[in-house]
This record gives sequence, structure tokens and C-alpha cells, in this order.
Amino acid sequence: MAYSPYLLKGQKALVTGASSGIGEAIARSLASSGASVVVNYHSEAEAAHKIVNDIQAANGEAIAIQADVSKEEEVKAMFSKTLQHFGTIDILVNNAGLQKDSPFVDMTLEQWNAVIGINLTGQFLCAREAAKEFLRRGVQPQISSAAGKIICISSVHEVIPWSGHVNYAASKGGINMMMRSIAQELAPHKIRVNSIAPGAIKTPINQSAWDTPQAEAKLLQLIPAKRVGEVEDIGKVAVWLASDDSDYVNGATLFVDGGMTLYPGFTANG
Ligand code: BGC
Repeated sequence: MAYSPYLLKGQKALVTGASSGIGEAIARSLASSGASVVVNYHSEAEAAHKIVNDIQAANGEAIAIQADVSKEEEVKAMFSKTLQHFGTIDILVNNAGLQKDSPFVDMTLEQWNAVIGINLTGQFLCAREAAKEFLRRGVQPQISSAAGKIICISSVHEVIPWSGHVNYAASKGGINMMMRSIAQELAPHKIRVNSIAPGAIKTPINQSAWDTPQAEAKLLQLIPAKRVGEVEDIGKVAVWLASDDSDYVNGATLFVDGGMTLYPGFTANG
């Protein structure tokens, strides 16, 4: 897709978990659309700096900031650095997330807390800091018709139960009500809060589900569109949700899943 470098011109974005996978693609897409981008990472410093260098080489603006989004003090420090560097923030993409899979009865409290801490509490902490700045600054009509945009990266598993992944599915179900409740509360302030719910996208998180022909064939049974998604499929949607083209979209979850949530198991059954 040809990104317009003017669509998000002058806007400052922060993407959590942007050193790989979906977060990386979103950071690159926002930058290609003219936004200045904070590439947040947890442990992959080298990868994050490479993304920053690539963006700068294409005449974009980016910085990398390390933070564990599940830690309140680290999130606060990341937002202070962002504001120091870019002056303000217009777009938050709450992307950082992980899986710690286990059969339910063997799931440890540590596995539960780690996933809830990053996937759900992390989104809360970042959304709260972004919203404070959006409210403080208000609308700048020459930049955007919104005072700010928050995009939560959820999953098809906010509606599809997932055996062996109870912590992950619970975190994504939580994102749905968190996102919609924040959207309801902040809409009068011209803040838009929406989610993207990806299906199976080729990233390191689910590599074993697509990296052999046998695994891919099995996965495709769950995808009516008969292809596994690419990270760019999500990047494009994130740009649209961050832009004024989606100005009247608030509290929505966009499923970007090739039809996975259409319950393809019912095609010739039921
Ligand atoms: C998970 C992937 C999985 C996909 C579809 C995503 O949220 O992170 O591991 O392949 O959902 O089940």
C-alpha cells in the first residue's frame, strides 16, 4: 500500500512492544504516514534501534524507549521522555503482549500474572498516561480533529475461547470492556478509543502454527480467507484508525482476521 506521508503529519505516536511483529509493522506504517514515532521495547534494544534508524533513513522521526509496560514507574518514565522529546502525544498504540500457554490446571499464578500484567494492566497504565496528556492539551485542529487516539491491540480471542490459553483469552476479553468503558468516558473530550482484533498473523508469537506446510494447512482450516495474515494487514488498519478518516469511529473493535471469527467450523456442520 502507498502510504500518504501527509495523513498523520505533525502527529506524535507511541507504539508499545514495537521491536518486532505487529508492533513493528504499526510503528513503520505510522511513520510512513508522517507521524513521529516512539518505538517502545522491553528487551530487544538492537531490533528497536534498527527500526528507528530505518525510519530516520526514510526522513521520518523516531526514538526508541525501553520500558516494561506492566510497571507503573517505567510507564510514567516512558511518557515523560516522550513528552520531553516530542512535546506531546496524539496517538497511543497499546500493542505489547505475550502468551504464556499452559493446560488450565497446570497454569501457575506466575503465568497468569505475567500475561494479565503486560496484556491488560500494561494497556491500562499506558492509556491512562496518554489520556492525561490528551486532556491537558485538548484538540489542535490543525493536527487532528481528535484530542487523541488510543488503539488497543486485542485478538480474536477476545471473543473466541481458547483452551490452553486461559490467561491470554482472559486478558483480551478484559481489553474489550476496558477499551469500551474508556471510550464511553472520554468521547465527550474528543478522545477516540478503539481496538484491532487480529486473527492469525505471521509473527514470532505463533510461529509453530504456520512454519511448516502441515501446521499451516491445519491453521487455514480456521481461516475462511485461506491465507495467514501478514503484519502489514494490521499496520494499514492502525493508520486508518489513527487518522481523521475514522473520526466517527469510537469504541469499536475491528476484527482483522480473514474471517476467523465467522466460525468456519460451521460451514458444513450444525
Ligand atoms: C495469538 C496467536 C494466534 C491467533 C489466532 C492471536 O491472538 O497471539 O498465537 O495464532 O490469535 O488464534
